[in-house]
Order: sequence, then structure tokens, then C-alpha cells
Amino acid sequence: MASITIRQLDEKAKRRLRLRAARHGRSMEDEARTILRNASAGEDIGTDPPARHVPTRMPDQQRPRPQDDRPADAGKRVLLIIGGGIAAYKSLDLVRRLKERGITVRCILTRAAQEFITALSAGALSGEHAHTDLFDPAVELDIGHIRLARETDLVVVAPATADLMAKMAGGSADDLASAVLLATDHTVLIAPAMNPSMWAHPATRRNLATLVDDGVVVVGPNAGEMAEAEEAGIGRMAEPLEIVAAALPFLASVGHGNTLTGRRVIVTSGPTHEPIDPVRYIANRSSGKQGHAIAAAAAASGAEVILISGPVILPDPAGVKTIKVETAQDMLAAVTRALPADVAIFAAAVADWRIDKPKANKIKKTPRGSPKLGLVENPDVLAMIAHMASGRPRLVIGFAAETERIIEHAKAKLARKGCDWILANDVSVSSGVMGGDRNTIHLVTAEGVESWPPQSKEEVARALVERIADALPGATGE
Ligand code: CTP
Repeated sequence: MASITIRQLDEKAKRRLRLRAARHGRSMEDEARTILRNASAGEDIGTDPPARHVPTRMPDQQRPRPQDDRPADAGKRVLLIIGGGIAAYKSLDLVRRLKERGITVRCILTRAAQEFITALSAGALSGEHAHTDLFDPAVELDIGHIRLARETDLVVVAPATADLMAKMAGGSADDLASAVLLATDHTVLIAPAMNPSMWAHPATRRNLATLVDDGVVVVGPNAGEMAEAEEAGIGRMAEPLEIVAAALPFLASVGHGNTLTGRRVIVTSGPTHEPIDPVRYIANRSSGKQGHAIAAAAAASGAEVILISGPVILPDPAGVKTIKVETAQDMLAAVTRALPADVAIFAAAVADWRIDKPKANKIKKTPRGSPKLGLVENPDVLAMIAHMASGRPRLVIGFAAETERIIEHAKAKLARKGCDWILANDVSVSSGVMGGDRNTIHLVTAEGVESWPPQSKEEVARALVERIADALPGATGE
């Protein structure tokens, strides 16, 4: 099928396609493909009913779902390069975790990896021949290292040993793994694993910096105990599920092009904590899942992303620069320092008030009764950035967390805060949005309201990134 370039459609067709895609819970490209497929099967494209407001809540059985209920990333392909470290055993579990999402996994084991696990076990778990040697005539005849490098959607290196990272940074190609890494034009995600002293060594720091500069995405390593007795520190490979979570936004962006390449995007996420005394604070129930998913999706689309996050228990998204803050005032300072940016997305649930005079020592109970706490209003980070006289990001996007009269309040917020778009969502307890995995969004702009179907926070993030890529002038995407 010829490639579909949504950007070449006129505005009216684009808008109609967008609404139709939103109604069906698909990307615009997938919707266009579905229309073409249906047209060739006899459906009259013109019979699509006019765009309408989608009901906020749909009964489960009416919810648009990906065909046959498989995860959205089913059918995507990962080439997993397993390096020679004790963590190689975890890579077998990683194969399973990817396979259970319907992802095809092909494995390459370095010579050192084969000291820890066998090609037989990797092959058995992946259901594909596991490759081991650059000069294996069978491999070259059957598929060849260049095809191995190309016929995938994402290359994952786990564990990425210090030696493998050095080879990648130096561009050597003296075995199958390094040759494939040099030949691939796909995103490479590495999960480093090594002794803490090796991780801290200036040579590894240099290699890491080179790899990040080259666009390699890094997940982990984590802090913890090492395989060596009585060794602890940073160097443990990220857990298989963390690696899967880091890989998914990149797999989800496959087929959409690097639509945000060259763009700088700031995202705020999570709650803020406003201290009362050294042990107590004011907070809210925000988990940061939506903001973190947006940061990950923007990075997977090629943007340089700075995530400014309040305290959350989520891992830092791969490929994103994460700055951790506690209070609303810290968040404002970090956002201001991160400017300039093309796009700023304010997904954080910033505390509206802080204690006027937080106590230096823990407040003790006294017979005189409970303490009187004074509150002062926090700076509104979104409104301050949206109202900047110069250096304002081209697109400023806020959220509206509402528990009633959602669209009415969101429209008022759009006007009051001076932002370009508001993503309004119902955060009442019954919606399950706060801390949950799904979200129902109403996109409120100067042109009107678009209601998206209930979908996962990752799908919301992907849809938002597509809308941003469409809206930015002089888009660089495919
Ligand atoms: N926001 C912000 N700084 C604040 C308060 C809110 O940047 N001090 C941003 C949020 O990140 C979000 C938007 O403003 O993008 C709306 O936040 P919300 O909590 O829905 O609205 P509030 O401004 O707090 O108004 P209210 O609590 O009255 O609904």
C-alpha cells in the first residue's frame, strides 16, 4: 500500500479523519488504512456519519477495542541482543514478557552471553532460531546480519555490559551483535548491567554520554545488591517488566514516523508535596502515570523531552531527561530553567496552596489543641508560562482535573490560564482516573471540543503526540 501522508490532506478532511479516528480509538494513520481497506471491500467512504460529540462514557461492550483484543503492540518486532553478564538469565524472562504481549522476539547472544545461558533456551522461549556468530554461514545464507538489523522495530540490548557499551560507542563490528548494532537504523534501547565500580568508571561514563548523544535510549541500571558477595550500588540491570515498559512507547510509535524530531518538549507530571514540617506535607492522589506516559510518547516520536516530576513511584521514562522536584515553587523554577521549548504540557496536579510558614521542627501535640495552619496560594505554573510576553512555547497545553461540569470548567480554565489546549478529564472517585490506568479526555481548544473514547493513558499520550505533531507549523515528520 502506498504510504499515507496525513499532513497532505486539507484541514477539513484532516479534522474529519481525526474525529473518526478518535471515535474508533485508532491513530489517524490506522483509521486511514481502515477506510482504504473497507473501501476496497466495498464500503462507501462517504457514508460515514458526520462528526459528532462522542458520549463521555460508553458501556464496556461498546468501547472501541483493538481488533481481537490483543495488546496494541502485538505484531511488533524486537531484536534482543543478550550480552555476557550474570543478568543474562533475566533476559530469558524478558523474552517471555515481550512474547506474552504478542511481540515477535529474535535473539542474538554474544560469545560471553553463551557462558551464562544457551542459544537453545533463548530460541525455545522466543520460538525463533537464536543467532550467535557473525561468521556462521547458515545465518548469512538464511537471513544475513544486515537483514537481522533491519527487520525489526526496536533493538534491545540486555544486559548491556561495559564491554558491549564500549564497542557500541567505538563503532566496532567484530562479532554479530556489534555488527548488527552498527548496521541498524532502528531505535536501540540498552539495559546496562555491571559492577558499580565499572558503571562509575570515567570510561563507562564517556561511553554512556557518547551513546546517549547518538540517540541510544537507556533504561536503568538500578541500585541494589550485586551477584558478587557483599557488593552493592548502582549497576543491577532493570527488571524485565521495566525494560518492557521502556520499550512499549517506542514500539507504539512505529509506523507514525519521528514526528517530533527536532522539537523540545517540557512535561510536568505527578503531585507536588508542600511541607507542613519536616515530616508532614500536603499532597494529592496524582500518580504521574499520564504525564510520564506523555513524556515517553513524545521521546519515542523523536522529541527532546524534559520531564519535571513531583514525587511519584514510577520509574523515569527511558530517553527522557527527568528532573525531580517536591513543591510547586520548585516546579516553577525547574520549568523556567528548562525553557525555551516548542511545546509545554502541564500534566502535574500542582497543589493550589502551601503552608505559609512551614515549621523547621516537627509540630508536637500540646494540650492547647490542634495547630493553626495558614495557607498561601501557590504560583500557577501553567498560567505563568502561557502568559509569558516573550519566549512562550509555541504550544502550551494544560489539563483540567474536574469532578463536575467538566467541559464548562475546562473552557473557563482555557480562557483564564491563557493556554492553547486543555485536556479535560473527570477525576471524581468513581471515574478511577486518579491512580488508574485509563482516562477519558475532552480536548478543549479555541475551535471547539473533541471527546476521545476511554482509553489507556499510553493511548491518550500517543493521540496527544499525534495532535501536537499535526499542529506544529513546519512539521518535520514523515
Ligand atoms: N496548574 C499549574 N500550577 C498550579 C495549578 C495548576 O501548572 N499551581 C496546571 C495543572 O498542571 C493543569 C492545569 O493547571 O495543567 C489545571 O489544573 P487544575 O488542578 O485542574 O486546576 P486549578 O488551576 O488548580 O483550578 P481548580 O483547582 O480551581 O479546579
